[in-house]
Amino acid sequence: MKEELDTPAVLIDMDIVKENIQAYQKYCNGIGINLRPHIKTHKIPELAKLQLNEGAVGITCQKISEAEAIISEGGISDILITYNIIGQKKLMALKKLSKRANIAVVADSVYCLEGLSRAFEDSKKKLRVLVECDTGANRCGVISPSAALKLAKVISSNNNLIFGGLMTYPPISEPEKVNSFLAEAKDLIEKNGIKVETISIGGSPDMWKVKKIPIANEYRIGTYIFNDRSLLHRGVCKERDCALTVLATVVSTPTDYRAIVDAGSKVLTSDLFGLEDYGRVLSKPHLKICQLTEEHGTIISENPTGLKIGQQLKIIPNHACVVTNMLDSVIFVANEMPIKHQKVIARGKVW
Ligand SMILES: Cc1ncc(COP(=O)(O)O)c(C=O)c1O
Repeated sequence: MKEELDTPAVLIDMDIVKENIQAYQKYCNGIGINLRPHIKTHKIPELAKLQLNEGAVGITCQKISEAEAIISEGGISDILITYNIIGQKKLMALKKLSKRANIAVVADSVYCLEGLSRAFEDSKKKLRVLVECDTGANRCGVISPSAALKLAKVISSNNNLIFGGLMTYPPISEPEKVNSFLAEAKDLIEKNGIKVETISIGGSPDMWKVKKIPIANEYRIGTYIFNDRSLLHRGVCKERDCALTVLATVVSTPTDYRAIVDAGSKVLTSDLFGLEDYGRVLSKPHLKICQLTEEHGTIISENPTGLKIGQQLKIIPNHACVVTNMLDSVIFVANEMPIKHQKVIARGKVW
Protein backbone atom coordinates (compact mmCIF):
# COMPACT_ATOMS: atom_id res chain seq x y z
CA MET A 1 0.00 0.00 0.00
CA LYS A 2 1.90 3.04 -1.21
CA GLU A 3 -0.13 6.18 -0.79
CA GLU A 4 -0.06 9.50 0.94
CA LEU A 5 -2.18 9.03 4.02
CA ASP A 6 -5.20 11.24 4.34
CA THR A 7 -5.88 12.59 7.81
CA PRO A 8 -7.07 12.30 10.44
CA ALA A 9 -6.18 8.62 10.56
CA VAL A 10 -5.44 6.09 13.27
CA LEU A 11 -2.16 4.26 12.66
CA ILE A 12 -1.31 0.94 14.28
CA ASP A 13 2.36 0.04 14.21
CA MET A 14 2.28 -3.74 13.88
CA ASP A 15 5.96 -4.14 14.79
CA ILE A 16 5.29 -2.53 18.16
CA VAL A 17 2.03 -4.46 18.57
CA LYS A 18 3.87 -7.76 18.15
CA GLU A 19 6.60 -6.71 20.58
CA ASN A 20 4.01 -5.64 23.19
CA ILE A 21 2.06 -8.90 22.87
CA GLN A 22 5.20 -11.04 23.08
CA ALA A 23 6.74 -9.13 25.97
CA TYR A 24 3.65 -9.40 28.15
CA GLN A 25 2.94 -13.02 27.28
CA LYS A 26 6.53 -13.81 28.24
CA TYR A 27 6.06 -11.98 31.55
CA CYS A 28 2.85 -13.94 32.31
CA ASN A 29 4.47 -17.25 31.35
CA GLY A 30 7.38 -16.38 33.63
CA ILE A 31 5.18 -15.83 36.67
CA GLY A 32 2.76 -18.64 35.79
CA ILE A 33 -0.46 -16.69 35.30
CA ASN A 34 -2.98 -17.14 32.49
CA LEU A 35 -3.41 -14.19 30.17
CA ARG A 36 -6.87 -13.29 28.88
CA PRO A 37 -6.56 -10.05 26.88
CA HIS A 38 -9.44 -7.61 26.77
CA ILE A 39 -10.25 -6.89 23.13
CA LYS A 40 -12.11 -3.65 23.88
CA THR A 41 -8.80 -1.88 23.23
CA HIS A 42 -8.38 -2.97 19.59
CA LYS A 43 -11.79 -4.45 18.57
CA ILE A 44 -10.13 -6.37 15.70
CA PRO A 45 -10.24 -10.20 15.30
CA GLU A 46 -6.84 -10.36 13.61
CA LEU A 47 -5.21 -8.77 16.67
CA ALA A 48 -7.11 -11.05 19.06
CA LYS A 49 -5.76 -14.02 17.10
CA LEU A 50 -2.21 -12.71 17.42
CA GLN A 51 -2.74 -12.60 21.19
CA LEU A 52 -4.14 -16.15 21.23
CA ASN A 53 -1.38 -17.52 19.00
CA GLU A 54 1.19 -16.11 21.38
CA GLY A 55 -0.36 -18.05 24.29
CA ALA A 56 -3.40 -16.21 25.66
CA VAL A 57 -5.94 -18.67 27.12
CA GLY A 58 -8.93 -16.80 25.69
CA ILE A 59 -10.21 -13.28 25.39
CA THR A 60 -12.25 -10.84 27.44
CA CYS A 61 -15.14 -8.79 26.03
CA GLN A 62 -17.20 -6.22 27.84
CA LYS A 63 -20.42 -6.60 25.86
CA ILE A 64 -22.30 -9.36 24.04
CA SER A 65 -22.33 -7.48 20.73
CA GLU A 66 -18.57 -6.98 21.03
CA ALA A 67 -18.14 -10.73 21.48
CA GLU A 68 -20.45 -11.48 18.52
CA ALA A 69 -18.38 -9.19 16.29
CA ILE A 70 -14.98 -10.43 17.40
CA ILE A 71 -15.83 -14.11 16.71
CA SER A 72 -17.48 -13.32 13.36
CA GLU A 73 -14.41 -14.40 11.36
CA GLY A 74 -13.99 -17.66 13.31
CA GLY A 75 -10.91 -18.88 15.15
CA ILE A 76 -11.84 -17.50 18.58
CA SER A 77 -13.66 -19.80 20.94
CA ASP A 78 -13.09 -18.85 24.58
CA ILE A 79 -14.63 -15.62 25.88
CA LEU A 80 -15.22 -14.09 29.30
CA ILE A 81 -17.82 -11.33 29.21
CA THR A 82 -17.10 -9.06 32.17
CA TYR A 83 -20.49 -7.43 32.45
CA ASN A 84 -23.76 -8.02 34.26
CA ILE A 85 -26.17 -9.22 31.57
CA ILE A 86 -29.51 -7.62 32.35
CA GLY A 87 -32.65 -7.72 30.18
CA GLN A 88 -34.40 -10.34 28.10
CA LYS A 89 -33.03 -9.32 24.73
CA LYS A 90 -29.43 -9.54 25.90
CA LEU A 91 -30.07 -12.82 27.72
CA MET A 92 -31.42 -14.37 24.52
CA ALA A 93 -28.40 -13.06 22.58
CA LEU A 94 -26.10 -14.54 25.23
CA LYS A 95 -27.77 -17.92 24.93
CA LYS A 96 -27.38 -17.82 21.15
CA LEU A 97 -23.74 -16.77 21.47
CA SER A 98 -23.02 -19.61 23.88
CA LYS A 99 -23.81 -22.06 21.07
CA ARG A 100 -21.01 -20.57 18.96
CA ALA A 101 -18.27 -20.23 21.61
CA ASN A 102 -17.24 -21.19 25.09
CA ILE A 103 -18.73 -18.30 27.06
CA ALA A 104 -18.43 -17.32 30.71
CA VAL A 105 -19.95 -14.23 32.29
CA VAL A 106 -19.82 -12.37 35.58
CA ALA A 107 -22.58 -11.38 37.99
CA ASP A 108 -22.82 -9.39 41.20
CA SER A 109 -26.46 -9.81 42.19
CA VAL A 110 -29.13 -12.45 42.65
CA TYR A 111 -31.23 -10.48 40.14
CA CYS A 112 -28.59 -10.96 37.47
CA LEU A 113 -28.17 -14.67 38.33
CA GLU A 114 -31.92 -15.28 38.12
CA GLY A 115 -31.96 -13.87 34.59
CA LEU A 116 -28.97 -15.99 33.54
CA SER A 117 -30.54 -19.09 35.04
CA ARG A 118 -33.89 -18.51 33.28
CA ALA A 119 -32.13 -17.99 29.95
CA PHE A 120 -30.21 -21.28 30.25
CA GLU A 121 -33.13 -23.35 31.65
CA ASP A 122 -33.64 -25.43 28.51
CA SER A 123 -30.04 -25.28 27.36
CA LYS A 124 -27.86 -28.39 26.99
CA LYS A 125 -24.87 -26.39 28.14
CA LYS A 126 -24.66 -24.83 31.61
CA LEU A 127 -23.40 -21.26 31.82
CA ARG A 128 -20.15 -20.59 33.69
CA VAL A 129 -20.47 -17.57 35.99
CA LEU A 130 -17.81 -15.76 38.01
CA VAL A 131 -18.77 -13.53 40.91
CA GLU A 132 -17.61 -9.97 40.34
CA CYS A 133 -16.03 -8.39 43.41
CA ASP A 134 -15.53 -4.70 44.11
CA THR A 135 -12.05 -4.69 45.61
CA GLY A 136 -11.86 -0.91 45.74
CA ALA A 137 -12.48 0.46 42.23
CA ASN A 138 -16.05 1.42 43.19
CA ARG A 139 -17.60 0.03 40.04
CA CYS A 140 -19.66 -3.17 39.87
CA GLY A 141 -19.06 -6.05 42.25
CA VAL A 142 -20.08 -7.40 45.62
CA ILE A 143 -18.49 -5.36 48.37
CA SER A 144 -17.51 -8.09 50.82
CA PRO A 145 -16.14 -11.65 50.79
CA SER A 146 -19.28 -12.83 52.60
CA ALA A 147 -21.44 -11.37 49.80
CA ALA A 148 -19.24 -13.24 47.30
CA LEU A 149 -19.90 -16.45 49.24
CA LYS A 150 -23.64 -15.83 49.12
CA LEU A 151 -23.60 -15.58 45.31
CA ALA A 152 -21.20 -18.52 44.94
CA LYS A 153 -23.74 -20.64 46.84
CA VAL A 154 -26.61 -19.43 44.64
CA ILE A 155 -24.64 -20.30 41.50
CA SER A 156 -23.37 -23.68 42.61
CA SER A 157 -26.81 -24.81 43.74
CA ASN A 158 -28.40 -23.77 40.43
CA ASN A 159 -28.98 -26.45 37.77
CA ASN A 160 -28.35 -24.11 34.85
CA LEU A 161 -25.18 -22.42 36.09
CA ILE A 162 -21.63 -23.41 37.03
CA PHE A 163 -19.60 -21.45 39.55
CA GLY A 164 -16.42 -20.38 37.73
CA GLY A 165 -14.65 -18.32 40.38
CA LEU A 166 -14.04 -14.67 41.22
CA MET A 167 -13.41 -11.65 39.02
CA THR A 168 -12.45 -8.09 39.87
CA TYR A 169 -11.52 -4.92 38.04
CA PRO A 170 -9.04 -3.80 40.66
CA PRO A 171 -8.21 -0.30 41.87
CA ILE A 172 -4.82 0.97 40.71
CA SER A 173 -1.85 0.55 43.09
CA GLU A 174 -3.69 -1.27 45.88
CA PRO A 175 -2.51 -4.86 45.40
CA GLU A 176 -2.52 -5.81 49.10
CA LYS A 177 -6.16 -4.76 49.49
CA VAL A 178 -7.15 -6.67 46.33
CA ASN A 179 -5.25 -9.79 47.37
CA SER A 180 -6.68 -9.88 50.87
CA PHE A 181 -10.30 -9.45 49.64
CA LEU A 182 -9.91 -12.24 47.08
CA ALA A 183 -7.99 -14.55 49.43
CA GLU A 184 -10.63 -14.15 52.13
CA ALA A 185 -13.45 -14.75 49.62
CA LYS A 186 -11.73 -17.85 48.20
CA ASP A 187 -11.14 -19.24 51.66
CA LEU A 188 -14.75 -18.66 52.74
CA ILE A 189 -16.17 -20.21 49.58
CA GLU A 190 -13.87 -23.25 49.67
CA LYS A 191 -14.67 -23.82 53.36
CA ASN A 192 -18.25 -24.19 52.15
CA GLY A 193 -17.21 -26.99 49.82
CA ILE A 194 -17.27 -24.95 46.58
CA LYS A 195 -14.12 -24.95 44.45
CA VAL A 196 -12.87 -21.55 43.28
CA GLU A 197 -11.28 -22.35 39.96
CA THR A 198 -10.49 -18.95 38.43
CA ILE A 199 -9.46 -15.73 40.14
CA SER A 200 -9.36 -13.10 37.42
CA ILE A 201 -7.84 -9.63 37.85
CA GLY A 202 -6.61 -7.11 35.30
CA GLY A 203 -5.66 -3.64 34.13
CA SER A 204 -2.63 -2.21 32.34
CA PRO A 205 -1.54 0.39 34.95
CA ASP A 206 -0.36 -2.37 37.32
CA MET A 207 0.63 -4.85 34.61
CA TRP A 208 4.19 -5.28 35.86
CA LYS A 209 3.12 -5.77 39.51
CA VAL A 210 0.96 -8.87 39.11
CA LYS A 211 3.10 -10.84 41.54
CA LYS A 212 1.79 -8.61 44.33
CA ILE A 213 -1.60 -10.32 43.93
CA PRO A 214 -0.49 -13.97 44.21
CA ILE A 215 -4.03 -15.26 44.77
CA ALA A 216 -4.93 -14.45 41.13
CA ASN A 217 -4.45 -17.02 38.37
CA GLU A 218 -5.77 -15.02 35.40
CA TYR A 219 -4.87 -11.55 34.11
CA ARG A 220 -7.16 -9.53 31.85
CA ILE A 221 -5.40 -6.74 30.07
CA GLY A 222 -6.37 -4.48 27.21
CA THR A 223 -4.35 -1.31 26.66
CA TYR A 224 -0.94 -3.05 26.80
CA ILE A 225 -1.28 -4.06 23.13
CA PHE A 226 -1.03 -0.39 22.02
CA ASN A 227 -0.13 1.51 25.20
CA ASP A 228 -1.17 5.16 25.37
CA ARG A 229 -0.33 8.47 26.95
CA SER A 230 -1.93 7.57 30.28
CA LEU A 231 0.41 4.57 30.61
CA LEU A 232 3.33 6.67 29.42
CA HIS A 233 2.50 9.22 32.10
CA ARG A 234 2.43 6.47 34.74
CA GLY A 235 5.83 5.17 33.62
CA VAL A 236 4.35 1.80 32.55
CA CYS A 237 5.77 2.12 29.01
CA LYS A 238 8.06 4.28 26.91
CA GLU A 239 7.14 6.42 23.88
CA ARG A 240 8.68 3.78 21.60
CA ASP A 241 6.19 1.18 23.00
CA CYS A 242 3.15 3.19 21.83
CA ALA A 243 1.73 1.38 18.80
CA LEU A 244 -1.36 3.52 18.19
CA THR A 245 -1.01 7.09 17.01
CA VAL A 246 -3.39 9.56 15.45
CA LEU A 247 -1.99 11.06 12.27
CA ALA A 248 -3.13 14.67 11.88
CA THR A 249 -2.35 17.56 9.51
CA VAL A 250 -1.64 21.15 10.53
CA VAL A 251 -4.42 23.13 8.85
CA SER A 252 -3.81 26.57 10.32
CA THR A 253 -1.09 28.53 12.14
CA PRO A 254 -2.89 31.65 13.42
CA THR A 255 0.19 32.72 15.44
CA ASP A 256 3.75 31.46 15.89
CA TYR A 257 2.61 30.02 19.22
CA ARG A 258 -0.61 28.34 18.10
CA ALA A 259 -1.38 25.76 15.42
CA ILE A 260 -4.56 23.90 14.57
CA VAL A 261 -4.66 20.24 13.46
CA ASP A 262 -7.50 18.32 11.80
CA ALA A 263 -7.91 15.87 14.69
CA GLY A 264 -10.46 17.02 17.25
CA SER A 265 -12.66 15.28 19.76
CA LYS A 266 -14.21 13.08 17.03
CA VAL A 267 -10.88 11.24 16.79
CA LEU A 268 -8.82 11.93 19.90
CA THR A 269 -11.98 11.96 22.09
CA SER A 270 -12.37 14.37 24.98
CA ASP A 271 -11.17 11.73 27.47
CA LEU A 272 -8.58 13.48 29.61
CA PHE A 273 -7.99 10.28 31.61
CA GLY A 274 -6.60 12.28 34.51
CA LEU A 275 -4.27 14.32 32.31
CA GLU A 276 -4.39 18.05 31.64
CA ASP A 277 -4.43 18.07 27.85
CA TYR A 278 -5.50 15.87 24.96
CA GLY A 279 -2.53 13.89 23.72
CA ARG A 280 1.20 13.93 23.20
CA VAL A 281 2.68 14.95 19.87
CA LEU A 282 5.24 12.27 19.07
CA SER A 283 8.84 13.46 19.55
CA LYS A 284 7.65 17.00 20.31
CA PRO A 285 6.88 17.04 24.04
CA HIS A 286 7.03 20.87 24.19
CA LEU A 287 3.74 21.07 22.26
CA LYS A 288 0.52 21.04 24.23
CA ILE A 289 -2.86 20.03 22.75
CA CYS A 290 -4.77 22.40 24.97
CA GLN A 291 -8.23 22.38 23.41
CA LEU A 292 -10.41 20.23 21.17
CA THR A 293 -13.60 20.92 19.32
CA GLU A 294 -15.09 18.24 17.13
CA GLU A 295 -12.81 18.63 14.11
CA HIS A 296 -10.09 20.96 15.43
CA GLY A 297 -7.22 20.34 17.82
CA THR A 298 -5.49 23.44 19.19
CA ILE A 299 -1.76 23.10 19.80
CA ILE A 300 0.12 25.74 21.77
CA SER A 301 3.68 26.19 22.91
CA GLU A 302 5.56 28.61 25.14
CA ASN A 303 8.12 29.04 22.35
CA PRO A 304 7.21 29.22 18.64
CA THR A 305 5.63 25.89 17.67
CA GLY A 306 7.76 25.59 14.52
CA LEU A 307 4.77 23.93 12.82
CA LYS A 308 3.89 24.58 9.18
CA ILE A 309 0.54 24.28 7.39
CA GLY A 310 0.38 20.91 5.62
CA GLN A 311 2.80 19.24 8.05
CA GLN A 312 1.66 15.87 9.42
CA LEU A 313 2.04 15.00 13.11
CA LYS A 314 1.62 11.77 15.03
CA ILE A 315 -0.25 12.09 18.31
CA ILE A 316 -0.30 9.53 21.12
CA PRO A 317 -3.84 9.77 22.50
CA ASN A 318 -4.52 9.86 26.23
CA HIS A 319 -6.65 6.70 26.03
CA ALA A 320 -6.22 4.26 23.14
CA CYS A 321 -9.35 2.15 23.74
CA VAL A 322 -11.81 4.98 23.10
CA VAL A 323 -9.98 6.16 19.97
CA THR A 324 -10.49 2.81 18.20
CA ASN A 325 -14.21 3.30 18.74
CA MET A 326 -14.22 6.51 16.70
CA LEU A 327 -13.33 5.41 13.17
CA ASP A 328 -14.56 2.63 10.88
CA SER A 329 -11.03 1.63 10.01
CA VAL A 330 -7.45 2.01 11.13
CA ILE A 331 -4.24 1.71 9.12
CA PHE A 332 -1.78 -1.05 9.90
CA VAL A 333 1.82 0.04 9.50
CA ALA A 334 4.94 -2.15 9.40
CA ASN A 335 8.53 -1.02 8.96
CA GLU A 336 7.14 2.51 9.06
CA MET A 337 5.14 1.83 5.86
CA PRO A 338 1.33 1.57 5.70
CA ILE A 339 0.38 -2.00 4.81
CA LYS A 340 -3.42 -2.06 4.91
CA HIS A 341 -6.65 -0.40 5.93
CA GLN A 342 -8.20 -2.57 8.63
CA LYS A 343 -11.88 -2.46 9.53
CA VAL A 344 -12.52 -2.04 13.27
CA ILE A 345 -15.06 -4.85 13.37
CA ALA A 346 -16.16 -4.57 16.99
CA ARG A 347 -16.44 -0.78 16.94
CA GLY A 348 -19.62 0.77 18.38
CA LYS A 349 -20.72 -2.51 19.95
CA VAL A 350 -22.20 -1.21 23.16
CA TRP A 351 -25.08 -3.64 23.70
C1 LIG B 1 -13.39 -5.66 33.32
C2 LIG B 1 -12.11 -5.17 32.76
N1 LIG B 1 -11.07 -6.00 32.69
C3 LIG B 1 -9.90 -5.61 32.15
C4 LIG B 1 -9.73 -4.34 31.65
C5 LIG B 1 -8.43 -4.00 31.01
O1 LIG B 1 -7.89 -2.81 31.44
P1 LIG B 1 -6.64 -2.13 30.71
O2 LIG B 1 -7.12 -1.55 29.44
O3 LIG B 1 -6.19 -1.11 31.68
O4 LIG B 1 -5.61 -3.19 30.49
C6 LIG B 1 -10.79 -3.43 31.74
C7 LIG B 1 -10.67 -2.05 31.28
O5 LIG B 1 -11.57 -1.25 31.24
C8 LIG B 1 -12.02 -3.87 32.29
O6 LIG B 1 -13.09 -3.05 32.39
